[in-house]
Amino acid sequence: MPEPLFTDTLHFAGEQLRALIKRHPDFYPMYTAGGKWKHTGEAWTHWCDGFLPGMMWILAGRDRGWVEPAVRYSKPLEPRQHDRNVHDLGFIFMSTYRRWLELTGEPALNDVLIQAGRTMALRFREKGEYLRSFMAEDSLFIDIMMNAGIIFYAARETGDAALRDVALRHSLTTRRVLVRGDGSTSHEGIFDTATGEFLKQTTQQGYRGDSCWSRGLAWAIYGFGTCYEYTGDGRFLATAEACARYYIEHTGEGGVPPWDFDAPAESRKLLDTSAAAIAASGLLQLARLAQNPLYDTVARRTLSTLCQNHTAAGDAAWEGILKGGVYHLHKNLGVNESVMWGEYFFVEALDRALGK
Ligand code: GLY
Repeated sequence: MPEPLFTDTLHFAGEQLRALIKRHPDFYPMYTAGGKWKHTGEAWTHWCDGFLPGMMWILAGRDRGWVEPAVRYSKPLEPRQHDRNVHDLGFIFMSTYRRWLELTGEPALNDVLIQAGRTMALRFREKGEYLRSFMAEDSLFIDIMMNAGIIFYAARETGDAALRDVALRHSLTTRRVLVRGDGSTSHEGIFDTATGEFLKQTTQQGYRGDSCWSRGLAWAIYGFGTCYEYTGDGRFLATAEACARYYIEHTGEGGVPPWDFDAPAESRKLLDTSAAAIAASGLLQLARLAQNPLYDTVARRTLSTLCQNHTAAGDAAWEGILKGGVYHLHKNLGVNESVMWGEYFFVEALDRALGK
């Protein structure tokens, strides 16, 4: 009976969040070090600030007591609607302002979402037809599929066909160059900026350019599903399902994937619970879009495993919700720790699985 387990875990998540905002008011953590949110480890890039208030908005859907802190933590993000330095405006604003808008219907919130979508679209490179990553002009990340959605959203809200075209062409390019025939994904693609020619698959956070970094695959399941939801284009549903098949076949009964499916055997013992949480939420979305109960079953099984074996319940010293996430192994950042996106997508998936 997973429902009480999910309800109890969502309750535990709320308790951990309350403790966090009491201990470190107005602090936006990214990953823990030894289970503690406050430390001096580097950020690498600033993409996570929406996840803490995003969880508050999810909880506010069940308990209006969360609205006040959710507003307090969301408002400081508003200037980032103009942030040209990251490719993560979907992560930052769809988790916060979109949820805020859905709960309150305040029209001014939509202006922020639309501007964030327009800013995100400025990353588009005609030569190569992709939204460039924060790394460099020639770089495309699989993660950006999670952020194309805010451009589709802004296009839909404004009727701006050029905006929609940017998101569509980016998604088609990503599908062509980063998703392989077996449904696995590469983390990063490199282009010739002069000609737009695609040069090679590579990686920042995965094991190798030709490997499948599990979180990148989870971003693809979720991101291409979202893309299908906005476009109704069956190519994106097929891509999301191919990625889901690869994920399900290679993750197996254990329910939590290794940090990279192609890392050497010893290294594969290091799991990434954040990939499992993202995949669970993306599979719940895909179950609805594809009308396929298999994805729902796998998502619920994954959530049960996370709830039973991977939360910090029972470890009073640990400040996070979900243990065992991996941020950047090569830089030794957030390895086997709680990570903010893992927390967010875990809470989102639990909320989705429980329904209203
Ligand atoms: N760079 C986004 C991620 O770590 O998944």
